[in-house]
Amino acid sequence: MTEWKRVVVTGANKGIGLATVGAILESRDDSFVFLGSRSLERGQAARKKLLSEQPDWEGRVEVLQLDVSDDESVQAAADEVAKRFEEDEPLYGVVNNAGISGEHADMEKVLDVNTYGPRRVCQAFLPLVDSRQGRVVNISSASGPNFVADCSEERQELLTNPDVTWEEIEALMEECLAEEEEGSISAYGLSKACLNAYTIELAREHPELTINACTPGFIETDLTRPWAEARGVAPEEMGMKPPQAGTKAPLHLLFGEPGGSGWYFGSDAERSPLDRYRSPGDPPYRGD
Ligand SMILES: NC(=O)c1ccc[n+]([C@@H]2O[C@H](COP(=O)([O-])OP(=O)(O)OC[C@H]3O[C@@H](n4cnc5c(N)ncnc54)[C@H](OP(=O)(O)O)[C@@H]3O)[C@@H](O)[C@H]2O)c1
Repeated sequence: MTEWKRVVVTGANKGIGLATVGAILESRDDSFVFLGSRSLERGQAARKKLLSEQPDWEGRVEVLQLDVSDDESVQAAADEVAKRFEEDEPLYGVVNNAGISGEHADMEKVLDVNTYGPRRVCQAFLPLVDSRQGRVVNISSASGPNFVADCSEERQELLTNPDVTWEEIEALMEECLAEEEEGSISAYGLSKACLNAYTIELAREHPELTINACTPGFIETDLTRPWAEARGVAPEEMGMKPPQAGTKAPLHLLFGEPGGSGWYFGSDAERSPLDRYRSPGDPPYRGD
């Protein structure tokens, strides 16, 4: 009997999330994906597009309505997934991909989606994840380490501390919200630095699972395309790669041997430090 690798991907109706759904289904015949989408309609359209290209995936992908900023929606999605399983058929993995940039939202909203969102999803879905081999992949960003590099020493220590707690991360977010009016803080960088710190805590609390974060790289999506448009250049001229390229690190963290838990990885699927940028292709971070 096939032991299905069932994976939930949030924010999967477009961009890197949708490419990740395709990469999972492509890479493993034993995979099944819940394509998370806050809009059922957009999720169904994405599924239809995927199946028009790969009709063979028909029975292996299903839309799951899930708004990561809404407690009730997240819990309803977890209940829906739980209903689909027998006791001995757990979820294999969760990819926390849903995210927004800081350009059209205030700091509170960015933190709510990018940092509190993955936490809501983990709290609701982790009880369903296979305690023998389960994985969590948090889609973060190089903006996280870049943010930490510019922080005070005290904040750097907090955001890289192996013993960091959610209470400390939340207190930092609240402090930054209070400072927001000064306008000097990048909400997006803060949200991803806090997501990386949360990844440390979550991995510590769940030693039975493999839980890591990564940047997908600089990828052309609806999130980044406006930057090229604003400069009047083609996305590839700015170094943006197609969505498929953004799936390398997530797929490695989902199915490969990352070598640890609670770590952050670059888009080349090699470990990176939490407090400074490592270019893809540069030597991996060894934890020193
Ligand atoms: N593109 C890059 O270069 C880059 C670099 C570093 C990190 N990232 C990260 O990669 C992830 C995916 O980004 P992307 O570039 O693929 O952007 P995108 O094309 O804008 O896709 C973002 C996805 O997140 C969904 N989403 C937004 N708010 C949500 C919510 N409250 N609940 C559920 N889903 C929600 C969007 O759904 P709707 O269609 O409903 O809005 C969409 O499906 C993000 O976490 C982003 O921070 C991207």
